[in-house]
This record gives sequence, structure tokens and C-alpha cells, in this order.
Amino acid sequence: MAHFRVWRGDADGGGLEDFRVEVHEGEVVLDIIHRLQATQASDLAVRWNCKAGKCGSCSAEINGRPRLMCMTRMSVFDRTETVTVTPMRAFPVVRDLVTDVSFNYAKAREVPAFVPPAELGPGEYRMQQEDVNRSQEFRKCIECFLCQNTCHVVRDHEENKAAFAGPRFLMRIAELDMHPLDAAPQAGLDRKGTAQDEHGLGYCNITKCCTEVCPENIKITDNALIPLKERVADRKYDPLVWLGNKIRRRGQ
Ligand code: SF4
Ligand code: SF4
Ligand code: FES
Repeated sequence: MAHFRVWRGDADGGGLEDFRVEVHEGEVVLDIIHRLQATQASDLAVRWNCKAGKCGSCSAEINGRPRLMCMTRMSVFDRTETVTVTPMRAFPVVRDLVTDVSFNYAKAREVPAFVPPAELGPGEYRMQQEDVNRSQEFRKCIECFLCQNTCHVVRDHEENKAAFAGPRFLMRIAELDMHPLDAAPQAGLDRKGTAQDEHGLGYCNITKCCTEVCPENIKITDNALIPLKERVADRKYDPLVWLGNKIRRRGQ
């Protein structure tokens, strides 16, 4: 038997409820939540789909740490330990463990997609393997939004949400900006400029908390956010860019 403490409530408020529940060999936290639904709390709301760490739906906070419920084995807890499960803190609660993550979809829509190079057709794209590997690391993202939930810039600062895309979407901008075939500049899109000015890259102080909670072990900070900051700084202090901007301003 395990002692579970689960947050129950909705947007108007709620609190922690205690349960004693059976645990079997090899189970994960999501199994226990399902057992609670089946035996003691049939109206307990929880979002899940794959139970395999791939759909990114079952994100929650377990003993205060943002994690996937389906990938958290019961064997990591001491038998006498109380396991507390609460909804992600950075997003509004819908009910019980289910939060409204639409903030993330809104931010996703603000990032322009890959711009295909005009001179190349499908099948003609050629890239170095290291460029392919970089994109592949970022594309392992399952959109669980645990990194978004953990980042201190928005976790307790609702007021920052309008100006900050969060690590998942800054990583997306970094991926596109570092993509050797992205034709955004030719299309008049300035990914570096918008990362800094519209998506709040400057708020990130590279604490790496997002990286620590990523279930796909993506090195969000080291491989995406820091390189993007370096690219923004390179451009800002590039004497040719500086000269170009000055001439453009004079001509206006
Ligand atoms: S590294 Fe940046 S984006 Fe990641 S948690 Fe820290 S401040 Fe947020
Ligand atoms: S980067 Fe990692 S933590 Fe963030 S949404 Fe993607 S998989 Fe989840
Ligand atoms: S249920 Fe799909 S990631 Fe947990």
C-alpha cells in the first residue's frame, strides 16, 4: 500500500486529498492514479494518452518535481514516503490534475515555420550530418511543456507570459535559425531579432532548470538557448551589420 496525496479542485480553488492505495510490482504513478479512479475517486480528472512517455499529456508535479506520471516508477519512492501529485503550477487548472496549456499553443503559432529555399526542390536538400543531428535532438520534443512549467520566468510571474515564449519555443526558434537551409532572411524574417525583441530571449538567465526536467534529455539550454544568445550577440556587435543599420537609418 502507498500513501498518495492528490490535488483536487478547479479554477475556483481546491486542496490536497489523502488516499491509501494498492501498488503492484513495476507500476508507475499513472497506474496508481488510474487505480484511484477505478476504486476511490471515479471523478478524478487526469490527462493521458500513450502511457509510454511519448504523447506528453500526463505532465504533473510529483513531490514538487515536474515529471511525466507515466514515466515515474513507484520504485523510486521509499515505501513509507507520501507521494504528492499536483497539477503543473504555471498553467491554469481546469480540474484536478488537468491544466489548460493553451498558452503554449498560442506561443507556437507566433513562431514562423521553416521557409523552404526557393532554388531547391524536394529531394534536393543537402545538409551536413552535424546540422541534421542538431535538428533531430530538438525534434525529440514531445511537447509535454514541463520545461515551460519549470522556467522561473513564468512559473510565478503570470505577467511575464505575454513577453516570453518559454524554453520550448525559444528552442524552436534556435533550431530554425541554425538550420542551414532556412530561407527566413531572404523572406524578410529576422529570427534572431524576434527571439530577442518579441519572444523574450533576454529574460532567460541560463539557469538550466528547463533542461533538468526534460524527459527527452534535450540539452535545451546548452544546445539551443546559449547558442541562440550567442548568435543574437554576434549580430548585434557585428561591425558590418552595425554599418548597414546606420546607412539604412540615414536613408530613411
Ligand atoms: S535556462 Fe532559461 S529558459 Fe531554461 S529555465 Fe532557466 S531561465 Fe528558463
Ligand atoms: S523540450 Fe523537453 S521538457 Fe520541453 S516540452 Fe519538449 S520534451 Fe517537454
Ligand atoms: S501518457 Fe503519454 S507521455 Fe505520459
